[in-house]
Amino acid sequence: PISDNISYLCEKHNTNHNLMKSSIHAIMLTIGLIAPTAANADTVTMRMSDINPKTVIMPEIYGQFAEHLGSCIYGGLWVGPDSPIPNTSGYRNDVLQALRDLKVPVMRWPGGCFADEYHWRDGIGPAKDRPTQVNNNWGGTVEDNSFGTHEFFNLCELIGCEPYLSGNVGSGSVEELAQWVEYITAAEGPMARLRKENGREKPWKLKYLGVGNESWGCGGNFTPDYYANVYRRYQTYCRNFSDNRLYKIASGASDYDYDWTDVVMKNAHSHMDGISLHYYTVAGWNGSKGSATDFTPEDYYWTMGKCLEIEPVIEKHAAIMDKYDAKKRIGLLVDEWGTWWDVEPGTNPGHLYQQNTMRDAMVAALSLNVFQRHADRVKMANIAQVANVLQSMVLTRGDKMVLTPTYYVFKMYTPHQGATPIPLDVATSSMRVRDNRHIDMLQATASQKDGRIAVSLTNLSLDTPMEVKIPTDGKARDIQGSILSAASIDDYNDFGQPEKVTLRPFDGAKSGKNAIKMTLPAKSIVTITFAL
Ligand code: AHR
Repeated sequence: PISDNISYLCEKHNTNHNLMKSSIHAIMLTIGLIAPTAANADTVTMRMSDINPKTVIMPEIYGQFAEHLGSCIYGGLWVGPDSPIPNTSGYRNDVLQALRDLKVPVMRWPGGCFADEYHWRDGIGPAKDRPTQVNNNWGGTVEDNSFGTHEFFNLCELIGCEPYLSGNVGSGSVEELAQWVEYITAAEGPMARLRKENGREKPWKLKYLGVGNESWGCGGNFTPDYYANVYRRYQTYCRNFSDNRLYKIASGASDYDYDWTDVVMKNAHSHMDGISLHYYTVAGWNGSKGSATDFTPEDYYWTMGKCLEIEPVIEKHAAIMDKYDAKKRIGLLVDEWGTWWDVEPGTNPGHLYQQNTMRDAMVAALSLNVFQRHADRVKMANIAQVANVLQSMVLTRGDKMVLTPTYYVFKMYTPHQGATPIPLDVATSSMRVRDNRHIDMLQATASQKDGRIAVSLTNLSLDTPMEVKIPTDGKARDIQGSILSAASIDDYNDFGQPEKVTLRPFDGAKSGKNAIKMTLPAKSIVTITFAL
């Protein structure tokens, strides 16, 4: 296709793709090789007759992840009840409110790698009596265990989200994990008594239980065969007390490790409700991962390509799952995803504190689109991580908090939570990027709920606005919209400039008789909702 050739020429001559594309487009218009603009608008066609009303975009796709790592928990979520920072029983008020506004559906805790060195009994009882431990995975920081089981479950109650526990398989025991579940969910018996002594009378509800984390790596360096058997054993003793029903999750693969999924599914599928997958938008695991804020246009387009590669990766893992679970009973849970850059200069390399630009927002939008497209199999996703670590929602410093561009993507996508996905055909140009990947310049997702349709659109181009047409069956009514964009793709919010990249109302979508039309600015994300 023409766009491929343009990409090739751009690469060959090191020329900006979109500038060259617009020039070639102009020449082709003049010599009559292509028709003028309206017919060339990028088009998003909603395939209403292909909607499967039984498929739901699980709100859990908008899940969060909080690990004992750097200042995610301490300083980010929890400052303790005696802190001068405004708090509710120890939880920062500003972060609590920000997370409530996002309608966070689920929070994964306490790790990550930390989970397989976490012993829950160290985190109960009076905080002053709790033992300390070295956080071996994350900078050797001394952990005082002042944030433990009660603090986590109370946080979930305050936010109104489901707790998702990641159990210790790597360095724990079957008994330890079984008793943790009992401590949390049993109404009577020795563990319930201990919980009551620690101030919580009523059991909590616990649905999501992860049996290990990255068991192929920091979670124990298991082979898939061995892990599958260990998984079967551990989950046997994690009981359903009273009316609590566990949703048991096996520790899954990273990225392209299809063998792990195959072996664990083959040997343990009848004992699980979900299996996880981790996929980071990262340049590689050895050496520099690149700066979060200082990057070239070429780096940016590469990032989009690497991010979008999560789609074929999910499809391949899902196809393996189909072999053992044709009815799609088992969920694929992408319980760690997001960008991973070098830490901010001058910060502890083990604390993974990184800035978050408009580029990260694009990664968030594109990834969420992919999860929604695969809503029949992807039942949860947890961005890494909620505060001050990797691609976070919020950054905190002392009593200050900043909402990141990624936060705003989660905000503008809330209409999709719990909605029915609408299959789309997207007609747009594509571009070849570094590592021989191709990216479509217009990305989209759509859903319907309660009589309204939500469409989210992303124009990946750094410099070219895009005319977009959405054919509709009749005239769309009551269009409402919001837009996230930035003057420059490396713009970010910081403590001195907290609202440089922020969500704004978008009134550029106009309804005609049988189509909605709009111009998407370069590097922008738009969500519109409307009735038909
Ligand atoms: O999110 C940071 C780390 O990435 C997690 O602890 C681990 O599971 C993954 O490797």
